[in-house]
Amino acid sequence: MSRLLSVDRLDVTFDRHRVLADLSLQVQAGEILGIIGETGSGKTTLARAVVGLSPVRSGRITFDGTDVTALRGKARRAWRRTGQVQYVFQDPLRALDPQHTVARIVAEGLTVAGVLDRAAIEARVTAALTQVGLDPSLADRLPGQISGGQRQRVLLARAVALEPRLLLCDEPVSALDASNRNHVLRLLADLRDSSGVTVVVISHDLSSLAGIADRVAVLYGGRLVEHGPIDRVLSRPRHPYTALLTASAPSVRREHPIPARALRPSPEHTPVAAFGADACSYASRCPFATQACAAAPASTVDDGWAVACHHAGEWRSQLTVGAR
Ligand SMILES: Nc1ncnc2c1ncn2[C@@H]1O[C@H](COP(=O)(O)OP(=O)(O)OP(=O)(O)O)[C@@H](O)[C@H]1O
Ligand SMILES: [Mg+2]
Repeated sequence: MSRLLSVDRLDVTFDRHRVLADLSLQVQAGEILGIIGETGSGKTTLARAVVGLSPVRSGRITFDGTDVTALRGKARRAWRRTGQVQYVFQDPLRALDPQHTVARIVAEGLTVAGVLDRAAIEARVTAALTQVGLDPSLADRLPGQISGGQRQRVLLARAVALEPRLLLCDEPVSALDASNRNHVLRLLADLRDSSGVTVVVISHDLSSLAGIADRVAVLYGGRLVEHGPIDRVLSRPRHPYTALLTASAPSVRREHPIPARALRPSPEHTPVAAFGADACSYASRCPFATQACAAAPASTVDDGWAVACHHAGEWRSQLTVGAR
């Protein structure tokens, strides 16, 4: 597989608050990458940085060889118009103009991309709606007249209409019930299989990702703590935070399940004093943290599996034997 997107040492700062710190990540063409992390960990900020919507302070984002962080003015607008990277917003209700019909919403990007012929637009809209499993007869409805699951599909249709190479879906299923959730997740996998589009799916629910993603990236406090092939990462996580996430997701299959309580600091645990701004982002919550964790860990990489932890692999020796 070839690399489609590369994020190198990305820093994003809002009002002097460092939201993403020294974050590096690669996305391979044709894969489905899941990004997981708790609320506020920086998932949306990361996805929005890729489409130029987050204030990048330093670092670089390269899409298929083009340094998109270096694009300015006209060059940037021209690149955006190609529609190669589509960001699908987290909240369908807020992202959709309540006064615009489904057809108009799906056509928006096409018009911006310079498709002006009405018949061509209509055909692309119908094709996009069909591709996401919506009946084209919904084209005349308003967002308020369709269900939550349908609204999520309309957002996807708007992105798909542009025939993107990379689709960044921000929490595409968190507002949906279980059956719609599975349908939309399947739909993303089908889109990848049929068109070869590369997909990044953001979620705070590990079980949603487990069925569709090839790889997973785990964010904590604006830093990537672990990323690698999803089956291997979930069955034997090397970062204590990933381990806690898997322990809290009962449907995820693990090699040796570790009880969540063994991964949380005990009441007697005294965290190492004065973890500074450069510390491991998880240090103050980690039961295995030591003085070494006051310095940010470098990622140790092994066969496409990276983990940012000073005690990666070793902390398990502190667990009771059965749980290792
Ligand atoms: N426009 C902004 N101005 C200031 N701070 C911001 C802005 N956008 C995000 N932040 C801050 O950046 C941090 C990360 O936010 P972000 O929305 O990326 O998290 P998230 O992982 O997507 O969370 P959620 O799961 O709730 O969607 C938060 O502390 C948030 O308050
Ligand atoms: Mg978010």
